[in-house]
Amino acid sequence: MEKIKMILDCDTGHDDAIALMVASKHPQIDLLGVTVVAGNQVLEKTLPNTLSVCQHLNINVPVYGGMSKPMVRDQIVAGDIHGKSGLDGPVFEPLVRKSEEKHAVNFIIDTLMNSEGDISLVPVGPLTNIAMALRFEPRIASKIKQIVLMGGAIGLGNATPAAEFNILADPEAAHVVLTSGVPIVMMPLDLTNTALADMTIIERMEAIGNKAGKLFGDIMRFTLKSQALNGLSAGPVHDVTAVTYLFASDIYNCKDVYAEIELSKGSSYGRTIFDMNNRYHKEINVRVGLSLDLNKFWDIVEETLRRHE
Ligand code: RIB
Ligand code: CA
Repeated sequence: MEKIKMILDCDTGHDDAIALMVASKHPQIDLLGVTVVAGNQVLEKTLPNTLSVCQHLNINVPVYGGMSKPMVRDQIVAGDIHGKSGLDGPVFEPLVRKSEEKHAVNFIIDTLMNSEGDISLVPVGPLTNIAMALRFEPRIASKIKQIVLMGGAIGLGNATPAAEFNILADPEAAHVVLTSGVPIVMMPLDLTNTALADMTIIERMEAIGNKAGKLFGDIMRFTLKSQALNGLSAGPVHDVTAVTYLFASDIYNCKDVYAEIELSKGSSYGRTIFDMNNRYHKEINVRVGLSLDLNKFWDIVEETLRRHE
C-alpha cells in the first residue's frame, strides 16, 4: 500500500511529542519533514524540544524552524500547561541534533510546489507557518491534498472560555487557513479531550519496555498535574488525534460544516464558530471531528510506539 505523505507542523509540547512519535514510525506514513512554530512556548524552546525528541528516539527526519511570532496579535504561550521549557518532565541527553538551514515556510512551499499534490499537512500548533506559506505562495493551495489540524472547540475553549489555544495563539492565521479553499479536517477539543492519557494508559505504554514507552510515560506523567487547570483528570494527547486520522479515519465520527474564526478583539477573540445546524447557509469548508473509537486509537498508539527503539 502506498504510504501517506505528510508534513508535521508542531509546537512541541507534550502531546506534540507523542504525535511526532506516532507520525515518524507508523508504517502507513511517509513523514517528509517536521516544521516547528512558536506556540506552547517560544520558538527558541519548541525547536530544541522537537530536536531532542528526534535525537532521543533516533527519528531521522529533517526538522525546520519556522515562525517565531503570530501574524498579527501579541504572542501568548502555554507555560501553565507545558512548563517553562515547553516540555517539562522528561530529561534528554545534551542536544546535538541540528535543524535545517532552510526556513520552515520555504520548506513547505518548495516541497508542495515540487509535488504531485499528494502531500497532507498536519499542523498541531498555531497555524502561523501554514498561513504564511499560503500568503507567500498562493499556488500551494491547489497542491495541498488536505490539512488535518488539531485546533478549535465546538463548545468551551481551554485558553479562554471561548477559544482553544492553537487558534487563539494566532486567530488571523487560522482565518487564512479556513478561507484557503484547501480541504480541511479539524480535531477540536470536544474530541481531543476524550483522548486522555491517564495512569492506566501511561502504565500500558511504559510496559512496552522501550525508550518510546518510557518517554511517553515521562512526558504524560507531567501533564497529570498541569491538566488539572483545565479540569481534566489526566493529559489529553490532543495532537495525536490529527495524525491518526490520516490512516484511520474510519475510527472517527465527523461532520461537514461551515466554520469561521472570530477575529473581533472581544472576549470571543479566536473562537471557532462551527455552524453545526447550517444556520448561516454558507458553503461547507471543514470536516470537524466529533468523536473517535478510543480503544482502537490507543491500540494504534501502542502498536506504533512498539515500532520505536
Ligand atoms: O489546545 C491544545 C493544543 O494547544 C495542543 O496542540 C497543545 O499541544 C497546545 O499546542
Ligand atoms: Ca501542539
